Amino acid sequence: MSSHSFTPRLTLHDLRKLAATRKLAMLTCYDAGFAATLDAAGVDLILIGDSLGMVVQGHDSTLPVTVEHVAYHTACVARGAARPWIVADMPFGSFQASPEQAYGNAVRLMQAGSQMVKIEGGAEMAPTVEFLVRRGIPVCAHVGLTPQHVNVFGGYRVQGRGADAVNRLQAAAQSLQDAGAAMMVIEAVPEPVARGLAQSLQLITIGIGASAACTGQVLVLHDMLGAGTGRRPRFVKSFMAGADSIEAAVRAYVADVQAARFPGPEHVYAETPAA
Ligand code: KIV
Repeated sequence: MSSHSFTPRLTLHDLRKLAATRKLAMLTCYDAGFAATLDAAGVDLILIGDSLGMVVQGHDSTLPVTVEHVAYHTACVARGAARPWIVADMPFGSFQASPEQAYGNAVRLMQAGSQMVKIEGGAEMAPTVEFLVRRGIPVCAHVGLTPQHVNVFGGYRVQGRGADAVNRLQAAAQSLQDAGAAMMVIEAVPEPVARGLAQSLQLITIGIGASAACTGQVLVLHDMLGAGTGRRPRFVKSFMAGADSIEAAVRAYVADVQAARFPGPEHVYAETPAA
């Protein structure tokens, strides 16, 4: 008999059971060393976000990131973290052309070590979500401020403001859930709109600049450690303040998310911008 201790990886079933008792804590991560720290600190889900294009590679958007980049970082993270559920981002241009294109690239990311892929977009992505889920690939949808659309949005702007935009967002979220998405990131959407989505959907909702009512929260690792320069979005909080190590900062984030202390009112958006 082996004497190795073995930490089983969380499953979707485990996450749903946990979510009935507390909020879920998710962070982005890109390498094995930080992945081990996040695991030790109690993070439930790790996202290998295409934000790596900005925080690791130094680009000014996520658009230059490729499937090979995400696969490489996913393999690093999967070697470092035993317990968290691992989600790999499908980068710009890797899934929009057809469900078949998405399937081929999603398989690449699952074989690199993820348990789920994340796809940005609205109702137009529902057929692709259904295609992937029916073939054994769990999908996390991503609605609201989808950074791969930065050039369409004209910048990183809060989405879901105004009746038409809210209706489109609600219809998109419902169609993605109906297509089989098991999880949904809701990014930079006014708090009442995000709360309405979180309360009406059955899937796991992960907020970022959305609402404390979501099933869980995500932040970019570098942002929550206060690393990097430049303008910080309203939803970012540095957890390094008062922490004597990176693991302590991540533990503080996990505790605040689990207890629904983060995000506070200062980290979410009002229905209309302040005058
Ligand atoms: O790429 C990323 O890190 C993301 C999160 C901000 C949700 O998509």
